[in-house]
Amino acid sequence: MKDSAPQTVYLADYAAPGWLVDSVHLTFRLDPETTRVVSRIAFRPNPEGTQDRFYLDGENLKLIGATIDGQPVTPEITATGLTCPVPDGPFVWEADVEIAPAANTALDGLYMSGGMYCTQCEAEGFRKITYYPDRPDVMGIFSVRIEGDMPVLLSNGNPVASGDGWAEWHDPWPKPAYLFALVAGDLVAHSDRFTTTEGRDVALNIWVRPGDLDKCAFGMAALKASMVWDEQVYGRAYDLDLFNIVAVDDFNMGAMENKGLNIFNSSCVLAKSDTSTDADFERIEAIIAHEYFHNWTGNRITCRDWFQLCLKEGLTVFRDQTFTGDLRGHAVKRIDDALTLRARQFREDAGPLAHPVRPASFVEINNFYTATVYEKGAELVGMLKRLVGDDGYRAALTLYFDRHDGQAATIEDWLQCFTDATGRDLTQFALWYAQAGTPQITVTDDFVDGTYHLTLAQMTPPTPGQPDKQPLHIPVAVGLLAPDGSEVVPTRMLEMTQARQTYTFADLAARPIPSVLRDFSAPVILNHTQSAADRGVLLAHDSDPFNRWEAGRMLARDVLLAAVRDGKAPDPAYLDGLRATLTDDQLHPAFRARILALPSEQDVADALVRAGETPDPERIHSARRQVRQAIATALDAQMDAVFATMQVPGPYDPRAEDAGRRTLSNTVLSYLTLLDAGHRAAAQYEGADNMTQQIAALDCLLDIGAGQEALAAFRAQWQGDRLVMDKWFGLQIARSDPAETVTRAESLTRDPAFDWKNPNRFRSVFGALAGHMAGFHRQDGAGYDLLADWLIKLDPLNPQTTARMVTAFDAMARYDATRQELMRAALTRIARTPNLSRDTTEMVARILG
Ligand code: BES
Ligand code: ZN
Repeated sequence: MKDSAPQTVYLADYAAPGWLVDSVHLTFRLDPETTRVVSRIAFRPNPEGTQDRFYLDGENLKLIGATIDGQPVTPEITATGLTCPVPDGPFVWEADVEIAPAANTALDGLYMSGGMYCTQCEAEGFRKITYYPDRPDVMGIFSVRIEGDMPVLLSNGNPVASGDGWAEWHDPWPKPAYLFALVAGDLVAHSDRFTTTEGRDVALNIWVRPGDLDKCAFGMAALKASMVWDEQVYGRAYDLDLFNIVAVDDFNMGAMENKGLNIFNSSCVLAKSDTSTDADFERIEAIIAHEYFHNWTGNRITCRDWFQLCLKEGLTVFRDQTFTGDLRGHAVKRIDDALTLRARQFREDAGPLAHPVRPASFVEINNFYTATVYEKGAELVGMLKRLVGDDGYRAALTLYFDRHDGQAATIEDWLQCFTDATGRDLTQFALWYAQAGTPQITVTDDFVDGTYHLTLAQMTPPTPGQPDKQPLHIPVAVGLLAPDGSEVVPTRMLEMTQARQTYTFADLAARPIPSVLRDFSAPVILNHTQSAADRGVLLAHDSDPFNRWEAGRMLARDVLLAAVRDGKAPDPAYLDGLRATLTDDQLHPAFRARILALPSEQDVADALVRAGETPDPERIHSARRQVRQAIATALDAQMDAVFATMQVPGPYDPRAEDAGRRTLSNTVLSYLTLLDAGHRAAAQYEGADNMTQQIAALDCLLDIGAGQEALAAFRAQWQGDRLVMDKWFGLQIARSDPAETVTRAESLTRDPAFDWKNPNRFRSVFGALAGHMAGFHRQDGAGYDLLADWLIKLDPLNPQTTARMVTAFDAMARYDATRQELMRAALTRIARTPNLSRDTTEMVARILG
């Protein structure tokens, strides 16, 4: 069979399925080389169907035989599916197919990881398991029989019966095929129970390899916290008697929300204090919540088609962000989310891969699980909430759940619920889903006779395929401060709907200092020239914590830009502001740490690009180090004191309060290390009894080139733990001197522990390389070549992970001509590789434009 040319799929071409599925029965006879999958599917014609030809998706399947209503049939088979004449009314389709899980290195469909069988079916993996209408608007009731010589055999829903070498499962909730899951392995469970508000007693399990049983307690607590939260905040209770989570070592993504059987990358569920950092704990808590929350936003209400992906992902990210904020503090969470959005989504929006939150077309849907769909998608939910208010939001969501439960819905359905529940016209707001690019809002103002005029002008730059943009409906939260820092006008939600609008504030005693876009009320870039003095007032006094942080951020950015452009030392006013924040005991430690952390090299490059300049990565790297050195020198005494007072006594607790203290003490340590030759960091490394403290110390030591001994000790201590070893690989690349980054990465690929077929390990090396701006963009192109070599090597095995990592080249256009040429050459080399996957082909083509 030859692969047909990649097809572009268009949202506008959506056609309702010609046949619907009532029930699916699957029998698996597991074997690594030849697994048999027998399917029995009850089809019935869809009265609303617009397809006239019966078609089932199927890839890499060997069809042994098929029948319709018991009569053998001979379908017409292609590389992507089959077709066959069918009766007019309902009928039963049966097929017997053979697949080879051990040979499935793409980790999509049924595959093997460390001796266990597992599945990944989103978005279009089920078609690699059997012939099926593999589209989310076809929902069926699944029952599954698994035969195999594994002690644990799991699928969706409830266990029905089991015996030696077999188990049967039944899922009472109709679901699309992408939510199907199967796991078979030598696993043990960390178990617990939960009683829902509806009185349902739910058995909870986290299934792991026997050696990982001591890493499950935190994930279990996070799961229960998520269940409580969804009941309390969204009124959504769990709907089965069993909830299983399984940890697997080889997984392309973070985790997957299969009905009743979530499958997790082991890095996203396994945690204990000596092997996981505070950041790991927080991430695990959020991902467990995210996948659990999908049970309502994704599973009970799913997507009509993959163009609607943000319907489940944007909403579910928004929900997990709110959950984390509730548990750990909203101010710091909002800052972290804004940082992620800017680093990932703004970057995507500014380059060749820019696309709307709801794209209009795709070649490979896996390439659209992007920061735009997820993070910007979540921002759109947040803006809707701001526009309709908390009560309006609750009413709209209740209506959404009532009206669309059991359905495959669209963005139009979603917005209609807001309109029907609140009466708001969201016609213009809907543009956010269709128009790509990050809007820029330019702020100007004047003050005459006690009246203040604030003028906002919005502009969205052109993006691929969208040269002309229309004005968006943007909620801009604004407050006004008096020159002494007191608040004269509390937060007001201004609603921009036009290209340019002026807002008037009367009866003011003095020219106010505006605090614009409070709480980062919209995912936009603010062009707002403010004096350093005004920023200093905002940093010291703004009642909005986000903008307090943002004011410090803007000051820091200007300091860094001055250092890059003219080698200037930091403005003393900035250092004074930092000192005041550092020593302000009224502020949460985690918040203080966020203010102390400088914008990244990437952020500085972004700012230069926006100013029309070409960033020089090495220069940015050394200028930023200079600034850090100057900050350390200026704040040495205060940092020393904070370092001492922020030490956390007693046993490790991953919760926010202690984590915040550790973040602050480790941020301060990273500065102090620049002055004390690593003295404190070495001591912390020696005395550390948890991974947060241990790795932070190692990080500091590597940063000053003094970490080699600790690095060796770290390896000796942790070589038996894959997840910790991922950190070992990544950190030494991330903290390397730019001149050595590429050679370090290259030599690590020759390390016996470098298992390049494992996505986590591959990413730990090449994600760190691509993330080291100055190292990756080495002038001779060695970074580009190394990455290209390995992407070419990985593509035939694992197209999804390859295609994701090609995005390392997406900022090509911002660099100088030499670097652009070298990147283009590397990409062209990838593009010309024979039999390159559809995933990678699409990404390279989009980046090359
Ligand atoms: N449904 C996705 C998993 C997925 C992603 C499947 C891409 C197929 C292709 C899951 O709910 C998800 O979004 N996972 C995220 C983590 C989450 C916390 C944002 C992931 O895997 O990165
Ligand atoms: Zn998700």
